[in-house]
Amino acid sequence: MKWIKLDVELPEDDFVKMIKVDGKKLCLVRHQNKLHALQNSCPHAGGILSGGWCKNGHIICPLHRYEYNLETGKGLAGQNDYVDVYPIEEREDGVYVGLPEGFWKRLFS
Ligand code: FES
Repeated sequence: MKWIKLDVELPEDDFVKMIKVDGKKLCLVRHQNKLHALQNSCPHAGGILSGGWCKNGHIICPLHRYEYNLETGKGLAGQNDYVDVYPIEEREDGVYVGLPEGFWKRLFS
């Protein structure tokens, strides 16, 4: 896991937006005063989750309204799918997202 500092200003209020971290697009969410980082592409049919909205602790995909838990990434019962969620921390010097390191990168670093 490597922690990467975000170089964007984040709104204080709730938001859903796409950010690029280390070449990877993530869906960044502030919901009820807590930050979440998820994969940006919906596993159902590739909808863009950062174009969606939050309800009851879930991100809603704008295409077909599938819902994913912001904490666990799990889809609602019956969807049988999930999205990847990434650890995110607000530190004194900024906001950091933890991304898994690739197998080959780890091997040769
Ligand atoms: S593409 Fe997201 S719900 Fe269908």
